[in-house]
Amino acid sequence: MATKALVTKVWIDPGCIVCDACETTCPEVFEVQHDNETCIIRPEALDAEFNKPLTESIIEAAEECPVDVIKFDTVEVDAADVPAAPKPAAAPAAGAADASEPATAAAKASPEKPASKVAAPPKPKVVDPAIQALLAATTVRGGHAVINQGIQDLPDSIKHMSKLSPDKLPPDARHQKVLQKSSPKKDETSRRDFVVLGALTVGWGSVAAAGGVSTLAFARFMAPNVLEVEDPKVRCGSLAKYLAMAPGEVNEDYKPVKPSGFWIVREEERIAAVSIICTHLGCIPSWLPNDRKFKCPCHGSGFKPNGVNFEGPAPRPLERFKIYLDGDDVIVDRSKKFLAMGPNDTAKWNDPEASIPV
Ligand code: FES
Repeated sequence: MATKALVTKVWIDPGCIVCDACETTCPEVFEVQHDNETCIIRPEALDAEFNKPLTESIIEAAEECPVDVIKFDTVEVDAADVPAAPKPAAAPAAGAADASEPATAAAKASPEKPASKVAAPPKPKVVDPAIQALLAATTVRGGHAVINQGIQDLPDSIKHMSKLSPDKLPPDARHQKVLQKSSPKKDETSRRDFVVLGALTVGWGSVAAAGGVSTLAFARFMAPNVLEVEDPKVRCGSLAKYLAMAPGEVNEDYKPVKPSGFWIVREEERIAAVSIICTHLGCIPSWLPNDRKFKCPCHGSGFKPNGVNFEGPAPRPLERFKIYLDGDDVIVDRSKKFLAMGPNDTAKWNDPEASIPV
């Protein structure tokens, strides 16, 4: 008997870089929240039956995730019982029986429930040429061309971003990914009405009750971060620790901090907190101490120890976060960014909150 694996549960592991790719691919399940700098699972997707018809999109989103944090469980069902996808069919469903991608899908599935056959015919990506042209302009102009254009039918997330001040804007990549959504959301009402924690609690509660799962199992099931909201302020220890660094040296202790990691860099006359997000398309560069530079693995952008871009496609320096002293302790506040708008635009770094003078 032919079987297929259908997604019953989906969640996001720690490490999301809020790149928007998952929401672009499967907006029914994933919602990017730029205010919180995180991505959540929509409450509707807490229901296994809701997810099953969306199996292909969910798996595609997981495979496209640049940091591989989207996880899912599957269940094997008779191929004859596979529900039809709820989305308007842009492509014929005839290829649905082709099991050409099961190995990739299985590798993404939870280890407890290995997936097997999953049909995943490629979904056509429709990108308006006008939007593509804007994207090119956006990259060159640091993201603001798009924000200032009055495009009709923009998603709410973009409309919201258009009201933000430049220092609140995310990297260019995020704009691009959001704009690649070619159609408006189907259920904007439920999205607006979504009260995050309350809805999640009620939603998961229903799932637990219906399934008769134990409290312990339910807690473990819920533990993966459907929502991750962190304090934007990070206490980074004594100033003396950073005074002991040589100019040009980089502290990587806070690179893994969620949701926005940073490096603390020692310059000749100041200490600064530099965002770890590449200003090209949002990957995470590596600090190469021997070469004394940050190097992005995705497209080769290079940044000097102070974050200024000097090679590759990155259009501007790495962003900086507010940094200040509380007594002897260094505090980094990620709710405030100092954004450069061009290759050598470091003017905002002179703001007193952008560094600690030493
Ligand atoms: Fe393209 Fe960093 S994301 S160079």
